[in-house]
Amino acid sequence: MVETQRLICASAEVQEQGPGIGFPLPDEGKSRRSGFVVRYKGVIHGYVNRCAHVPVTLDWQEGDFFDLTRHYLICSTHGAQYLPETGRCVLGPCKGKSLQKLHMVERGGNIFLIESSTEESPL
Ligand code: FES
Repeated sequence: MVETQRLICASAEVQEQGPGIGFPLPDEGKSRRSGFVVRYKGVIHGYVNRCAHVPVTLDWQEGDFFDLTRHYLICSTHGAQYLPETGRCVLGPCKGKSLQKLHMVERGGNIFLIESSTEESPL
């Protein structure tokens, strides 16, 4: 197992309960994928930007992931609400399902995505 870290953005770009920062992910077959990172109660959380109900992106306007209370992530299509800390859907058509969590770390004033692959290291 090889782990790599990819710089996503500076920590200061992800404000508490503010707009999320999106980033591309490797495609999965023919479907394009992207991720996003938000900050909630001081902690960053990253997810694949794909609703657990229907495989569409959550944000209607780019980066707009929180609902009006700023305590839930919301899907703009049918209004599913997710807990920011876990990605678990607590209200809506996919209640009980979860967003796909991404491994993110915040270090030295930057936010990184940790990606794992089973490819052998060239070293
Ligand atoms: S597509 Fe997200 S709630 Fe239906």
